[in-house]
Amino acid sequence: MYLQSGLVSFSLICFYYWRVWPEFCLLVPSLLLISLYCKHKHGQVIVRWPIVSVFPSIFENMHRIHDWSVDVVNLWGSTIVERRAIFGCFSGLVTCDPGNIEYILKTNFSNFPKGDDFKETLDIFGDSLIMDSPSWNDHRRLTRRALMSNPSRSVISDTCKKVVQDSLVPFLHHAVQKSLIIDLQDVFLRYTFDTSFSVLFGRSANYLSTSLLPNELAQGLDDAMEALFYRNVMPNAYWKFCRRLMIGNERKMQKAWKTIDRHLAVHIKAKREDMVKGIAQTSSLLEGDMSNLVRSENDEVLIQDDKFSRDSAMSFFIGGNDTTGTALTWFFWLVARNLNVEAKILDELNLIVFSKENFIEQEDRLKTPLVFDINELKDAVYLHAAICESLRLYPPIPHNRRTSLKQDVLPDGTIVDPGMMIVISMYAAGRMEQVWGKDCLEFKPERWINENGKLNHETMSKFFGFSIGPRSCLGQEMAFVMMKLAASAMIFNFHVEVLVGQVITPKPSIVLKMKNGLMVRVKERVLHV
Ligand code: HEM
Repeated sequence: MYLQSGLVSFSLICFYYWRVWPEFCLLVPSLLLISLYCKHKHGQVIVRWPIVSVFPSIFENMHRIHDWSVDVVNLWGSTIVERRAIFGCFSGLVTCDPGNIEYILKTNFSNFPKGDDFKETLDIFGDSLIMDSPSWNDHRRLTRRALMSNPSRSVISDTCKKVVQDSLVPFLHHAVQKSLIIDLQDVFLRYTFDTSFSVLFGRSANYLSTSLLPNELAQGLDDAMEALFYRNVMPNAYWKFCRRLMIGNERKMQKAWKTIDRHLAVHIKAKREDMVKGIAQTSSLLEGDMSNLVRSENDEVLIQDDKFSRDSAMSFFIGGNDTTGTALTWFFWLVARNLNVEAKILDELNLIVFSKENFIEQEDRLKTPLVFDINELKDAVYLHAAICESLRLYPPIPHNRRTSLKQDVLPDGTIVDPGMMIVISMYAAGRMEQVWGKDCLEFKPERWINENGKLNHETMSKFFGFSIGPRSCLGQEMAFVMMKLAASAMIFNFHVEVLVGQVITPKPSIVLKMKNGLMVRVKERVLHV
């Protein structure tokens, strides 16, 4: 009744004022129609609007973009294509189909580079390995050698163990003594920063200590990551405009960039001086990297100045720190909610400790918190499986981006136009019912273990968390060393209790961090020898 009389009076007003204010008479009903349409469509997973297509739905769901991508995939299928939206300016597709992922990242890899936009968006990385550049092949070969050679492997595992022993465990012990409530995500990000820093420069950054002091370089890297996320989601023209005016996140980015460069220059210089003086030979990866480069004639062009070392350090820090720290945080959250998993990991660790022939030596070790050696953990299949399972549900890099060069057809029949933006959702790929079964949302490390108690290779082949093909992660082994050494020492010596009532949700970011951190209380575990 009210609505009808309202409409009648509104029509009379419009009729009366039509000649005087035609724009006003058109604007009001248009706004009314839009708001009615929005109200009607609100709550739907995704809506395809005229002209602006799915972009309003993306903005509406930005706060839960990863879970939203799973909802969309469940509704519309594993590949979603958008052609010539926004007056023909935008064409793109999102996929989590395993066949398509393999095709894009591996089989026809050369047709799907990262794209021209990528280099400009991630300009802070310089010419580092993660870019498409003519020297990428050489750079990858050198980094692989620097990370995978036997001496480097020892540097990495010894350094990790030292950081666990000298920083992580003492910090947790302090938290127990003082009954502190701690943010475990912050602790892990400090732990991975300290490890990467020591591995690279052969010195301790001491970011993870009982005083939890800030660190300018770590803060700079964090600010840069945040600004990069906004560059990734905002239209290019917008962030470039902000950069020109030096406002908002772009101002933050420029400040972070200066801080990072200032610190890296100091550490690289110090490392070179150490090398000249012959101090601490082969104790750091950068040293190995530098001397490898100096020795190899073909690669000499790469070391003309410190820029190469600076760019390598950047990809090392950004590629390895947040990813591994985040992975550890989700792992402990899942383990705390699945106490049966914690019990099985503990059984496995007890078996490693107590089945040793030299038991007397073990008894001595048990007088202080026990920190495992990476070789001791080689048979810890269940721990490995539990880490993989947590990476499946919470892949630290939830989305991967590519651009198509030529027209192509994906294995599921989707036609790809030249220049199309391609987003691979690792997050959705790890949660597909067709691939992982009805229990795909459950945390079940058992799915990674075969009937012989070994790692299940079929399951491993469905997992893309470290990417696949020529650009797959070079730090996978190092990431597992960092995660296994921290997780084994923590689970063996402490029990982590997650505080109830906190909202655990991913932060919209390039790396799947927890938005509000993970608040926990730590208790010392009583060992039954
Ligand atoms: C749980 C931890 C980690 C995860 C989930 C992870 C995941 C990934 C993924 C998905 C890529 C491919 C990115 C793309 O195609 O754009 C990648 C590349 C890379 N990762 Fe990792 N990563 C982890 C830890 C590390 C660590 C510790 C390092 C240390 C050095 C590292 C170094 C790299 C490098 C250098 C690349 C670039 C390879 C290339 O483009 O040729 N990552 N990583």
